[in-house]
Amino acid sequence: MTAFDPLANTYDADFTNTQIGRYLRDKVQQRLVQRFRLNDHVLELGCGTGEDALFLADNGIRVTATDASEEMLNIAREKTQNQPLVTVQKLDLQHPALPNEPAPFSDAMQGQKFDGVFSNFGALNCLESWDLLALWLSNRVKRKGVLAFGVMSPYCLWELLWFGLHGDFKTALRRLRGSDFEGLPITYPTINRLTREFSPYFKQISVKPLGLFLPPSNAFAVVEKRPKLLQALTALENRFGNWSLLSMLADHYWIVFEKK
Ligand SMILES: C[S@@+](CC[C@H](N)C(=O)[O-])C[C@H]1O[C@@H](n2cnc3c(N)ncnc32)[C@H](O)[C@@H]1O
Repeated sequence: MTAFDPLANTYDADFTNTQIGRYLRDKVQQRLVQRFRLNDHVLELGCGTGEDALFLADNGIRVTATDASEEMLNIAREKTQNQPLVTVQKLDLQHPALPNEPAPFSDAMQGQKFDGVFSNFGALNCLESWDLLALWLSNRVKRKGVLAFGVMSPYCLWELLWFGLHGDFKTALRRLRGSDFEGLPITYPTINRLTREFSPYFKQISVKPLGLFLPPSNAFAVVEKRPKLLQALTALENRFGNWSLLSMLADHYWIVFEKK
C-alpha cells in the first residue's frame, strides 16, 4: 500500500478533470509533443492514472508507463487497455542504492534504451535526492535522448501569498520546510539542485514555469468558482506563463535535459 493508493479512484475527478488541471495538462502535453516524435519509445515515471501515456500513444508515441501505486496502475491499465502503444508496469523510484546501480530498479528494464523519459505533476518530488535516478536513467536512455519533468517548485508565489494572507503559515511555508504526504516525505528541489544532480549524465536545455498565475491544486476551487477571475488568470498564464526567469515562482517548473 502506498500513500497514493487511496487517491487513485478520485484522482481524475479531483485533479485531472478540473478546469485548471485540464488547462495545465494541455500545456504539458503540448510541450511533450514538441520533444517526442512519432514512433519514439518513452518511459513515464509516476504515471498516475495514465492520462499522459494515453495522450502520447494516441499521437503515435510508444509509452512504458510506470508508477509505485498498484491502485494508480490499475486505473492506468483500464484507461489504456485499447491502446496497444501503452505498456503499464510497476516501478518504485524510492529505494536504497546498491553499490553500482540504484535498487530496486537495478535490473528493471535492463538492456532497454528509451528515446526519452518524462514525469508529470510532482512524481519526482516524492524522492529526497535524484542522483541515483539520474545514474539509472543514464543507462536506459539513448544519447541525445530527452528527459522532461514537471517538478513542484520550492517558491510557489500563489501558495505563499494566498495561504500566508489567510494566516495558514504551515501551508504557506510547507515547500520551504519540506512536507509529507501521508508519511511520505515530499521534497521541493531548486532548479539548480536538480540540474546539479543530473549533470554527470544530462545537460539541462530548458526550464519553463507551469502554473504561474493559476493556483496550485490546493486552491483550484478558490479560482474555479469565480469564472471572471479564472478567465483573467488564464489570460495572464497564456501571455506570460512561459517566461523562464519566473519558473521557480510557479506551482511547478518544467525542466528538460538531454543525454550527454
Ligand atoms: C501527483 S501524482 C501525478 C500523477 C501523474 N503523473 C499525473 O500527471 O497526473 C504523483 C504520482 O507519483 C507516484 N509516485 C509517488 N512516489 C513514487 C515512487 N517512489 N515511485 C514511483 N511512483 C511514485 C504516485 O503513485 C502518483 O501516481
